[in-house]
Amino acid sequence: MRDILQQDMLFWDKLIKSGQELAEDYGFQKIETPIVEDAELFIRGTGATTDIVSKEMYFVKTAGGASLALRPEGTPGAVRAYMENGMASLPQPIKLFYYGPMFRHEQPQAGRFRQFYQLGLEIFGDPGAVLDAQLIQFCFHLLRSVGLKKINIQINSLGCPQCRPSYRKALLDYYRHRKEKICPDCNRRIKENPLRLLDCKEEKCQPIKTQAPAMVDYLCDECRKHFKEVLEFLDELELPYFLNNSMVRGLDYYTKTVFEIFWEEEEMGQIALGGGGRYDNLVKELGGKPTPAVGVALGLDRIVELMKKEQVKVISGPNFKVFLVQLGLMGKKKSLRLFEKLHQAGILAAESMSRDSIKAQMKIADKLGVRFALILGQQEALDGTIIIRDMQSGVQETVPQEKVVDELKKRFKK
Ligand code: HAM
Repeated sequence: MRDILQQDMLFWDKLIKSGQELAEDYGFQKIETPIVEDAELFIRGTGATTDIVSKEMYFVKTAGGASLALRPEGTPGAVRAYMENGMASLPQPIKLFYYGPMFRHEQPQAGRFRQFYQLGLEIFGDPGAVLDAQLIQFCFHLLRSVGLKKINIQINSLGCPQCRPSYRKALLDYYRHRKEKICPDCNRRIKENPLRLLDCKEEKCQPIKTQAPAMVDYLCDECRKHFKEVLEFLDELELPYFLNNSMVRGLDYYTKTVFEIFWEEEEMGQIALGGGGRYDNLVKELGGKPTPAVGVALGLDRIVELMKKEQVKVISGPNFKVFLVQLGLMGKKKSLRLFEKLHQAGILAAESMSRDSIKAQMKIADKLGVRFALILGQQEALDGTIIIRDMQSGVQETVPQEKVVDELKKRFKK
């Protein structure tokens, strides 16, 4: 876990602002779910045998012994919120988005943190393939708008409870005949979670994996039609996608479409910036009515790293219009109030209340490039006046303090 420091915050702010605005433009509404939830929600939702739950989840124990967990991902919480808050009885689809920290006890490395941030979008109550494509479109749209271009997508279909068993059987038959050639982890996967065999990164398993049966060849008519439609929508959008037969994703709830969004560059290889897919059975599995759903989450930490690397332009701080120079205790006192008054009038004032010398303060004003300095010294504080100094011409004029806002507005108009 790490600190995000001030010099990076401008990138974070730009990304989050763009993400939220774009999500709203795509018709999503923002929600927030708790960071700590009943551990059971993730065990049942994300899946007990997934790495995320079995190896990486942080458990939190209360004094009373309740078993809670720091959320490792946002989808189960969103499903719970949908069910508990009666959203199923509202007109569907319900389109939600969230932003916040997730926690996974992974081995830290470049781009992998134990506390990281996701922007997640979830759509409940509509089985249409067009929504799967729209989520992918959103990711591209957002990444492009924050200056990232070298993006592609990998996509696959994992079928449904009707067609997946025959694929599982074919996969198991294939792997059982090759037990001696695969790693111990894969031998465990044969027993526990055969689809995850396709996730193996071990060198010796790769040739076997490439030859393994592909889910797309086993899809039932409905799943095949759905997948074909998703791809047609992506073609229409001219988005660069690749079919990846061995992509199964590290979470248990997916049905039909699964996809990942990658940054791709020779020197860095592939970096997953986001992933998602359909999960038409999860609401029911967690105790709700059968409700089709699809979603995606973008990894913001990785996106920020790339924005920095690509030297994306970000606005650096507020655009100050004036600098408030104060001298002496009386001047300081009056300046505090004036600062607020200027702010309320929409005139952004920079200041340096901790400095006492006029020279030092004028130097900062100069550096900031403000048009006017407002000078409030002991004498002005007593008189109820203030000096407006034009920073370019050096011309100074003394005006009553209560008129300073109007005077500045007049000058800015000119
Ligand atoms: P996920 O693929 O586990 O999906 O995570 C999505 C993204 O979060 C990844 O592509 C990556 O960019 C980022 N991410 C994951 N782990 C880390 C880490 N340790 N450090 C930095 N970034 C990380 C999900 O979480 C699903 N909830 C997505 C979803 C929503 N599916 C349906 N709806």
